[in-house]
Amino acid sequence: MNEFGINSTLEYQKEINMDNIFKQNFQINKSDYVLRNKHSSLVIWLTGLSGSGKSTIADELNTYFFSQSINSFILDGDNTRIGINSDLTFSDNDRKENIRRVAEISKLFNDAGFVIIASFISPFQSDRDMAKQIIGVENYFEVFINCPIEECEKRDVKGLYKKARNGEIQKFTGIDSPFEEPQNPNLIINTTKLSIKEATKLIIDKINL
Ligand code: ADX
Repeated sequence: MNEFGINSTLEYQKEINMDNIFKQNFQINKSDYVLRNKHSSLVIWLTGLSGSGKSTIADELNTYFFSQSINSFILDGDNTRIGINSDLTFSDNDRKENIRRVAEISKLFNDAGFVIIASFISPFQSDRDMAKQIIGVENYFEVFINCPIEECEKRDVKGLYKKARNGEIQKFTGIDSPFEEPQNPNLIINTTKLSIKEATKLIIDKINL
């Protein structure tokens, strides 16, 4: 079991001995990238139900950053679950491992001077706390994309709520798996009240790059 209480299913991890791992320091580090980029790095963590608008806001934010020559990149739950996290299910434990991995990736990107837009349901407070700890509190800006389940279900862009109601998907967030509302987000965006452009502007106005 690692420090975050994750029981790895990977056999070979049992053989890892951290005493034999040495942190390497290189000549160029985060402050050099930030200086060259002329903007600081940050992880904008979007949390919310499926269909709440996270990916659409992430896309709009990233497009804005690109237009301003800000180095940014989107890490998105569906996309990372196709690749690096394709071995993970939606059990509580695998969701935790999902968040741990993407938080570690976000941290690496942050060290490389990027503005990362991380778009993950991340339904559990303890997992978001873990992400914040991995990324570093000063680098972490949490946005709760708040949209009532009824509205997300009405939108049902991917048809997944219907499948979950029909019992074709188990442990679907908001249906038979909980979403714990963030206790202390940096910003709350209500996507039933704001347009995508307004939501994006709110985030841009609130962060400091
Ligand atoms: S998280 O809960 O582990 O943070 P993540 O953001 O990576 O979730 O992935 C969510 C996406 O996976 C959803 O947008 C949806 O398209 C898809 N998905 C498939 N099964 C589920 C499920 N049981 N619960 C939630 N999302 C699911």
